Amino acid sequence: MRTDVDLRHHGDAEVGPGLVDLAVNVRPGTPPPWLAALLRDSVGDLAAYPDASRAREAVARRHGRAGDEVLLTAGAAEAFVLLARVLTPRRAVVVHPQFTEPESALRGAGHEVERVVLDGDFRLGPVPEDADLVMVGNPTNPTSVLHPAEAVAALARPGRVLVVDEAFMDCVPGETESLAGRRLPGVVVVRSLTKTWGLAGLRAGYVLGEPWLLERLAEAQPLWSVSTPALVAAEACVSPRALAEADAWARELAVDRERLATALRGLGLRVVPEARASFLCVHVPDGLAVRETLRSRGYAVRRGDTFPGLGPDWLRVAVRDEATNTAFVSELTRALRPA
Ligand SMILES: Cc1ncc(COP(=O)(O)O)c(C=O)c1O
Repeated sequence: MRTDVDLRHHGDAEVGPGLVDLAVNVRPGTPPPWLAALLRDSVGDLAAYPDASRAREAVARRHGRAGDEVLLTAGAAEAFVLLARVLTPRRAVVVHPQFTEPESALRGAGHEVERVVLDGDFRLGPVPEDADLVMVGNPTNPTSVLHPAEAVAALARPGRVLVVDEAFMDCVPGETESLAGRRLPGVVVVRSLTKTWGLAGLRAGYVLGEPWLLERLAEAQPLWSVSTPALVAAEACVSPRALAEADAWARELAVDRERLATALRGLGLRVVPEARASFLCVHVPDGLAVRETLRSRGYAVRRGDTFPGLGPDWLRVAVRDEATNTAFVSELTRALRPA
């Protein structure tokens, strides 16, 4: 599968020993101790094959859906692969810039993919009317833009599957623009537990959608694909206590993100406005060189040139605590200064 950019490049390839990680958007300090303890306890049940029923019911309750509208997956990444294997689109459209695995999964399954590339402030625009598969992220990686729920829902059509990647929706206090709890024909919502709960290595996520489609995804899914610890995590992370913790973090994140965005704009840089996720997308002239300089000074930021619709002058920067953000801005200020 060859395309103009390396769709398989992700932030994890940019971090390394001794580097402050601003390239991967996982909440620092996670998994929290209560969740780590549950995962350790789940080791006692590893002799049995996994049973997803409790986790499925818990996720369904959390979103006000029925059990047959939920499929647990080994992360959002598995969901994209299952969708690509099961669907047979005549015209598949991926709205970019966005996380590249949906396109990669479609191409890997042999589908042609058309890109709709947003520009300006990366607000959602129209897609071809006859597209029978549309994939969009909300809030979007890497732009951090949160599209209004109504604008996303307006892309649904009879005969079309609309896949909304909400991997970062729990960065939004109250999840105001989520479609997870809405029963809309043809709309599939993909969620991840990786980011907020620090479970990238566990592989836990889920799909919400119509039973007929989820049944087909389940048939395509390898048996026991989601491990017992991942199911334990899924059940725990949709509990009222976990949701309250995530929401409190989302509110703190909003303050740190706004401060960081203001500091970056103070350096004369263009920051994509209305950011709502745990990172900022920043236009930095000569971005790839600046990224190298930052690396040499101990900071890993995510390159933008592997995202269709961005390019070498874009960087994605994870929002951390105030001290880390401030130290980063100082280094960036030095890196931008002409020699
Ligand atoms: C927007 C987006 N969706 C999905 C994923 C994959 O999530 P998971 O770890 O659940 O497979 C990522 C990971 O970077 C992402 O950025």
